[in-house]
Amino acid sequence: MTLTGKRVLLIISGGIAAFKALELIRLLRKQGAGVTCVLTDNGAQFVTPLSLQALSESKVYAELFSLTDESEMGHIQLSRAADLLVVAPATANILAKMANGLADDLASTVLLATDKPVLVAPAMNVRMWLHPATQANMATLTGRGVQVVGPDEGAMACNEFGPGRLAEPPEILAAIESLLSPASRPLSGRHAIVTSGPTHEPIDPVRYIANRSSGRQGHAIAAALAALGARVTLVSGPVNVPDPAGVSVRHVETAAQMLDACQTALPADIAVFAAAVADWRMDQAATGKIKKQPGAAPPSLHLVPNPDILATIAAAGPHRPRLVVGFAAETDDLLDNAQSKLRRKNADWIVANDVSPATGIMGGADNAVHIISADGIDHWPLLAKDEVAKRLAARIAAALA
Ligand SMILES: Cc1cc2nc3c(=O)[nH]c(=O)nc-3n(C[C@H](O)[C@H](O)[C@H](O)COP(=O)(O)O)c2cc1C
Repeated sequence: MTLTGKRVLLIISGGIAAFKALELIRLLRKQGAGVTCVLTDNGAQFVTPLSLQALSESKVYAELFSLTDESEMGHIQLSRAADLLVVAPATANILAKMANGLADDLASTVLLATDKPVLVAPAMNVRMWLHPATQANMATLTGRGVQVVGPDEGAMACNEFGPGRLAEPPEILAAIESLLSPASRPLSGRHAIVTSGPTHEPIDPVRYIANRSSGRQGHAIAAALAALGARVTLVSGPVNVPDPAGVSVRHVETAAQMLDACQTALPADIAVFAAAVADWRMDQAATGKIKKQPGAAPPSLHLVPNPDILATIAAAGPHRPRLVVGFAAETDDLLDNAQSKLRRKNADWIVANDVSPATGIMGGADNAVHIISADGIDHWPLLAKDEVAKRLAARIAAALA
């Protein structure tokens, strides 16, 4: 029984898949969870309160203005008593209400009043799911840390095919277990700072020095640490990848701003510096656009070194994070350079990757890394950047256990 003593508030909204909530309740009860159901008016068109009550063995709530429940401020009490709120199925309508803070019935009021983690299992017609309004609402919700399971892809009740099917109840149960079981969140209570992406160092108001970093690896690491329960501050340079869910993001442009954001985010238990920080910046960026003069020589750029974020944060001191991980992106003598970086910068581990153009790693989807520490070198095979992130997060959790 993986969920003994845990309380789930299950909100069932008005989708054709509402009947699957019955199976979910059965699975949750089997794992020892207490389940209280909140049913929307439209949800009650698809599944009866009586079935929900019989399976959950608890009173089912549907009315915002029920005298007995509200004398005890039922809508607040319901969320206080729960460890997790689950919306399954979550209609396009309830997701839109959540994204916009509407509270016009008991389900949406409880969702607005809660400070507990929320998991949604969207289920709807494929065009409703792919509609830009629904996608924008989902981006808003995940940006606020709402967890999502599904939707799955497949044949639908409306005779169409595509993404929009409710995740199967065992899949929803697994997502609930991973959110509620301490073993799956070994980093809970820990704070991690992660940097990601390139930095832009201005030459003048319109030009800048940059590099090809996409932010994919750093963002994936932030997401993987958050999935293991860490509170994550992601300090990101300018990137095109979306902010990961459940992570607090500081957007910066220059190396100096990145260092400042990292120092402000301290104290932390873990720091992972995956950003490709520019080594140099202009001594003095021009305040106006540098003009091309006919016949004149091109301007020479006078560069000065940027602050070294890894070495600054890894330096011994009261605020040094317990585990400091740097990245080494090299095109030559990868392991030698990475080993000397480990010592020079006082890092605990260096994640070394070969960013020669032939590898396709810089900006690509995959990465082949070597983890260098005082104990030796671990060579990992070529993996998707998400997979590298998960392995690294698991290694960090093991090191801090
Ligand atoms: C037969 C039928 C099936 C429906 N299935 C879905 C569905 O799977 N997903 C969805 O988002 N809306 C579905 N709807 C539309 C919702 O019921 C409607 O948007 C309603 O306002 C949702 O209310 P609620 O979110 O308060 O439960 C369906 C409507 C009907 C009549």
